[in-house]
Parts: sequence; C-alpha cells; structure tokens
Amino acid sequence: MPYSSDKTANSSTAQADRQHLTDHQVTSMVPHGTAGQPVLHADKLSKEVTSGERSLTILHDLSLSVAAGESVAILGKSGAGKSTLLGLLAGLDTPSDGELTLFGQALSRLDEDGRAALRAGRVGFVFQNFQLLPTLSALENVMLPLELSPRAGETQTAVQWLTRVGLGERVEHLPKQLSGGEQQRVAVARAFVTDPELVFADEPTGNLDPDTGAQIIDLLFTLNREAGTTLILVTHDHALAHRCDRCLRLDHGRLEPFVPASAISEEGTQ
Ligand SMILES: Nc1ncnc2c1ncn2[C@@H]1O[C@H](COP(=O)(O)OP(=O)(O)OP(=O)(O)O)[C@@H](O)[C@H]1O
Ligand SMILES: [Mg+2]
Repeated sequence: MPYSSDKTANSSTAQADRQHLTDHQVTSMVPHGTAGQPVLHADKLSKEVTSGERSLTILHDLSLSVAAGESVAILGKSGAGKSTLLGLLAGLDTPSDGELTLFGQALSRLDEDGRAALRAGRVGFVFQNFQLLPTLSALENVMLPLELSPRAGETQTAVQWLTRVGLGERVEHLPKQLSGGEQQRVAVARAFVTDPELVFADEPTGNLDPDTGAQIIDLLFTLNREAGTTLILVTHDHALAHRCDRCLRLDHGRLEPFVPASAISEEGTQ
C-alpha cells in the first residue's frame, strides 16, 4: 500500500508514495552490458494527484532506463502505483515533476498532439481494463491504431493478429459479446498490430486461464526475440516475470530489483 507523505502523514485514509533512490539504486535501474540505446529514460519522475482536499503522492523521484530489445517486468502490490507508472512511461499521462525521454525525445517539450505523433505506430499499450471501444467490433478495435499509422493490407494484418491470439472466429464480435479473456486478447492484438518498437502491457494475462495465458506470454517473447520488441510488463505472475531480462518491484513508491519466486526455487540460494 502507498504510505503517507508529510502533507498527509496523520490521515488514516490518505495514501502517498515516496521514493528515495540511493545512487546505487539509480545505477541498478540502468541496464548493464546491453548494446541497445535506451528507448526510454525516466529521470526523477513524480506523480502527485489531488483526492478531495488531500494530496496524494503516487510516485516520487523515480528513475529508470530501458534499452532497446529489453524485457522488463514490474511487480508490486495492488495500489502500489504500477498502472500509474506505466501510463507515465508510455507518455499517456504527464508527470508532476521529472522528465521522460522516449526514443530520444524529451516529452515535456511536446504537447499532447506531439506526444501522440511520437507514439503512433511505435508504442503499443495493453490496458489493464482493456479500453476497447464498445461500439466497435473486435476487428475494428484492432484496426484503430492503424488509422494513426496507415499501412497497406490493414484489414488482413488486423485479422492475422486476431488469429494469432486465437480469435480468428470472433472478428465481428462486439466487446460485450466477448469474454473478459477474449477482450484481453483483442487488446493484445491491438497493441501489436502496428509492429511497435515498444509495448507496455498492464497485467496482460490477468484474465486468462493458465494455458491461454502461456500462449500469450509465448507470443510476447517470440516478438521480443524475433522483432526486438522492447517489453515493459506489469504482472503479478512470477513465472512471466522470470522470463523477463529484468524484474523490478514498485513498493512504497520505490523501484527496486526483484528476484521472482520461480527464480528463487530454481537457483535455490536466494
Ligand atoms: N487520479 C487519481 N486520483 C486519486 N488517486 C489516484 C488516482 N490515480 C491513482 N490513484 C491512486 O493511486 C494508487 C495507485 O494506483 P494504481 O492504479 O497505479 O495502482 P496499481 O499498482 O496499478 O494497482 P493494481 O495492482 O490494483 O492494478 C491507488 O491507491 C489509487 O487509488
Ligand atoms: Mg494497475
């Protein structure tokens, strides 16, 4: 759970996160030995929101670099701020303080249209609550990002993606005619349809049974391996986290290196 900031320290309901990274911890957030240039660099990001009369600090002074082609898992308890962090790292939300550099561009220098143009076709996002448009079919939802980044054979590409996530027979269904797991897979197809360089996925297997979840995870890592897609995943699934190059845990606003449980049992010494 987030903890109280100075402003809210005596409030039993207000929650606030604070992050104090030591020099060592900042260094450990930067990938070592990777040839790729950072696709993303977050420098001392903070996020503060107002809830009623209270100020809530969700993230504080959070720094992170992610190299091209890396896969990074972010874990943490419910309410720790993972979705907030993912939205900030993708440039979908703006920080209260700090700077985010995406593909070498400082986002603070861009307006909303400029940020959208930078993301178009290059960044895919799987939202925790899917955010499918209810009046559009599965196929139309998957084709949405292609409107911002047009390319030949759009419909075929979108159908191929729906087929890859096991929904080739559901292309005309509206979201309300799909199960939660099916909607999640539409969201995955939509995130990948433009062949993005960078994909953010917020608990991408949270609604899937183990077998279907394993297929989606395999798909993510196949793309990571074959197309060099950089993956930044929020997950509670230690097995999924274990497959990533790097695992971090968001706790009390701090990002710290994390060893997932399956890695502990395999190595037996941690
Ligand atoms: N706009 C907002 N106004 C007030 N509080 C907010 C706002 N956005 C997020 N919060 C609070 O910030 C905290 C972090 O929320 P967030 O959704 O990022 O958590 P999370 O780690 O993704 O949780 P979960 O694992 O349950 O998805 C929560 O306590 C939430 O209530
Ligand atoms: Mg969340």
